[in-house]
Amino acid sequence: MRLDVVTIFPEYLDPLNVSLVGKARARGQLDVRVHDLRAWTYDRHNTVDDTPYGGGPGMVMKTEPWGDALDSVLADGYEAGSHAPALIVPTPSGRPFTQELAVELSERPWLVFTPARYEGIDRRVIDEYATRMPVYEVSIGDYVLAGGEAAVLVVTEAVARLLPGVLGNAESHRDDSFAPGAMANLLEGPVYTKPPEWRGREIPDVLLSGHHGKIARWRRDEALRRTAANRPDLIETCDPKAFDKKDREM
Ligand code: ADE
Repeated sequence: MRLDVVTIFPEYLDPLNVSLVGKARARGQLDVRVHDLRAWTYDRHNTVDDTPYGGGPGMVMKTEPWGDALDSVLADGYEAGSHAPALIVPTPSGRPFTQELAVELSERPWLVFTPARYEGIDRRVIDEYATRMPVYEVSIGDYVLAGGEAAVLVVTEAVARLLPGVLGNAESHRDDSFAPGAMANLLEGPVYTKPPEWRGREIPDVLLSGHHGKIARWRRDEALRRTAANRPDLIETCDPKAFDKKDREM
């Protein structure tokens, strides 16, 4: 998968060299290219923003640097043989970024991110590229960040771990909170590892029982308990047929 990021803070994306994403890059599973938007400014001050039409606080990112930057990144990508780019625009006004959307994006060959600072990018830029490629305006949560770069890190990590061969154990995202399947829309319950006792705290007996059926039942109960406590809204979205008599007694 190819990823391009155009930003005024290229160093903000340095964490893409670390851990899972960094290893995927080193192995050639991810081709990440970070570009400085100011490379496409031609005035002495490398201006990327201006005052908003209609008035109001803050500044708006200008059309010309974004247009020139995206044209150049896209042309370079096509030359390198990349196809079917999608534009990912992080914004608090976007659709919620979910595991389902992460799966959809992980199936695309090429993502181009446009993290903005200030009040956002002149709308004409997004409208222009939407005529050429799918555009995903995404929000990573109901809060306002100072810019979209942190959202790029979030989306990239969620997508990269879904790529074939990136996670050591392909099974390990099967039970993720929000993974599709029998536990759809339940949060994952607690997990434990050695030693069996720590500061007087023991492992739940059932996990040492070797009884797979009982362990599965316990995990499901814990998932339900945690979901009811932390995300009661998710219980509402579960298929009622997915609950059995014991669930309903909880
Ligand atoms: N930029 C600023 N806030 C954001 C958010 N919540 N999600 C994505 N991009 C953002």
